[in-house]
Amino acid sequence: MILTCIEEKTLKTFGAGMAIAGCGSAAPAGVLTNDELAKVVDTSDEWIRTRTGIGQRHLTKPQETLSHLAVTAGQQALVMAGVEAESIDLVILATSTPDDLFGSASKIASLLGASRAVGFDVTAACSGFVFGLAIAAQFIRTGVYQRVLLIGADVLSRWVDWTDRGTCVLFGDGAGAVVCQASPEDRLLGFELYSDGSKNDCLTLSYQGQPRPVGEMAVAAGTYGAIAMNGREVYRFAVEKVPEVIEKALYRANLTAEQVDWLLLHQANQRIIEAVAERLGLPLERTISNLSQYGNTSAASIPLALDEAVRQGKIQPGQVVAASGFGAGL
Ligand code: UT7
Repeated sequence: MILTCIEEKTLKTFGAGMAIAGCGSAAPAGVLTNDELAKVVDTSDEWIRTRTGIGQRHLTKPQETLSHLAVTAGQQALVMAGVEAESIDLVILATSTPDDLFGSASKIASLLGASRAVGFDVTAACSGFVFGLAIAAQFIRTGVYQRVLLIGADVLSRWVDWTDRGTCVLFGDGAGAVVCQASPEDRLLGFELYSDGSKNDCLTLSYQGQPRPVGEMAVAAGTYGAIAMNGREVYRFAVEKVPEVIEKALYRANLTAEQVDWLLLHQANQRIIEAVAERLGLPLERTISNLSQYGNTSAASIPLALDEAVRQGKIQPGQVVAASGFGAGL
């Protein structure tokens, strides 16, 4: 997905394009370092840092909710965009870990005071944010809505098997949000979406209901298993497919990789970020990475890293950002 940021003052006149007008993020206060995790499972700070680039992760406490994180990120995005919650037409929540399986977006819209907004959830795991951005663009480009608040948020810690060192070292919790707004110039320059369902089993958080008698019948009781992953397969998939989809998105945007100011990938593994940058011929200085602080926060990872980079003054209005999610689906 290739996009560029725009200054708020140039967004006054609505048009048929889409631009990101503001961003925000949130992470729980609780932090678990690699050394602390090494007391729980057979691993080490050295292994985790070398293989993934992760140093610590933020984890929600039992009483904390995904909605709370999402609302905090959403509020920040509204403030940066300089828009009122009542002006939001649609709230999209990209998450695979909603507080409520029926969806949490409309509750979040209500908590934000986005009283006019319709809300729905998008489930696409670590790619949820970029899928959500493509969805937001369809509503805005067709003139149906002018302002969409897109929030990527996940609390995968709820679904991690803390005895599985192959997965538990990777994930953390967080939320990130962007205000997408109609704009005379279309700042979503091009996108490409790709799925390979034949590899679905490589990364799952699947339903594992047990039979329960109801009268003469047996129905399945509701429960889910823990995250299960074939890490090597997912790694191979990411390193092969992410450069391909970025090349296709660049082609649609009529741009070359040299014109990309920032490579903003889903924050899963520093080695994946480096391998993709190398394949695209981009220097490491033009990659965004906050893995060491947060680990893999699933649908939150791209907007969380985007928000940090914008607030640090790295990503500037007018610059070209190539973003890509990848993960479960695959
Ligand atoms: O957002 C979802 C997308 N997910 C991803 O992008 C994940 C992609 N995959 C990866 O990032 C990497 O495959 C991992 C970080 C998950 C694993 O790294 P790897 O270099 O592929 O390691 P591996 O699975 O090949 O395991 C190498 C060794 C094994 O030991 P043996 O069989 O060589 O003796 C593992 O048992 O490392 C061992 N190992 C660990 N050792 C210490 C696996 N996990 C750990 C651990 N600590 N946490």
